[in-house]
Amino acid sequence: MRIDIVTLLPELLESPFRHSIMKRAQEKGRLEVVVHDLRPFGLGKHNQLDDYAFGGGAGMVMMIEPIANCLEALKAERDYDEIIYLSPDGQVFHQAMANRLSLHQNLILLCGHYKGVDERVREQFITMEISIGDYVLSGGELAAAVVVDAIGRLIPGVLNDESSALLDSFQDNLLAPPVYTRPADFRGWKVPEVLLSGNFPQIEEWRLEQSIVRTRQRRPDLLDGEQDVD
Ligand code: ADE
Repeated sequence: MRIDIVTLLPELLESPFRHSIMKRAQEKGRLEVVVHDLRPFGLGKHNQLDDYAFGGGAGMVMMIEPIANCLEALKAERDYDEIIYLSPDGQVFHQAMANRLSLHQNLILLCGHYKGVDERVREQFITMEISIGDYVLSGGELAAAVVVDAIGRLIPGVLNDESSALLDSFQDNLLAPPVYTRPADFRGWKVPEVLLSGNFPQIEEWRLEQSIVRTRQRRPDLLDGEQDVD
């Protein structure tokens, strides 16, 4: 999968994909993340990217022309499955959406700033809008990093033990069960006996029970299927 990220702050996206699973995904050739600086597409001698809102009001608006030129240059190179705008007024991101997006070949993520982009960008170019939660960030870059990370680890062949993605919280609308490692007894704080038993069917049963208990306590909305918007 190839993901092109269009931003006016490319520096913010230098580190997130250089480590751990995202790094491995790229080394294995499963994921390519290309960050594009909008600045060279800016207008005039100062490469202007934003302007005052028609009708007045505080805050600048990102202009359509630089964004259109950048998106059209990308679209001339390949077909994109989705052109996604990161915005607090998009659909709230969740695991089922990450699963679905991980099946695509080419995605563009457009990061907003200031008061956002000229509405005509959304009308003419954007096919999907994603919010990573009900709070406002200073720009879409950190949201884009979250979306790429959540999608990237689901691409087949990225995780070593592929079943581990299936055991994550939210797959099956359940939170993950508690996990433990050595020592089995630390200051008298003991690991549940069943995990040391070697009885794998019983261990699986315990894990499922724990997942259900944990989900009921912490996220009963998941059990109601409220997150299932497929
Ligand atoms: N840009 C600003 N806030 C955002 C959010 N919550 N999700 C996605 N993009 C954003």
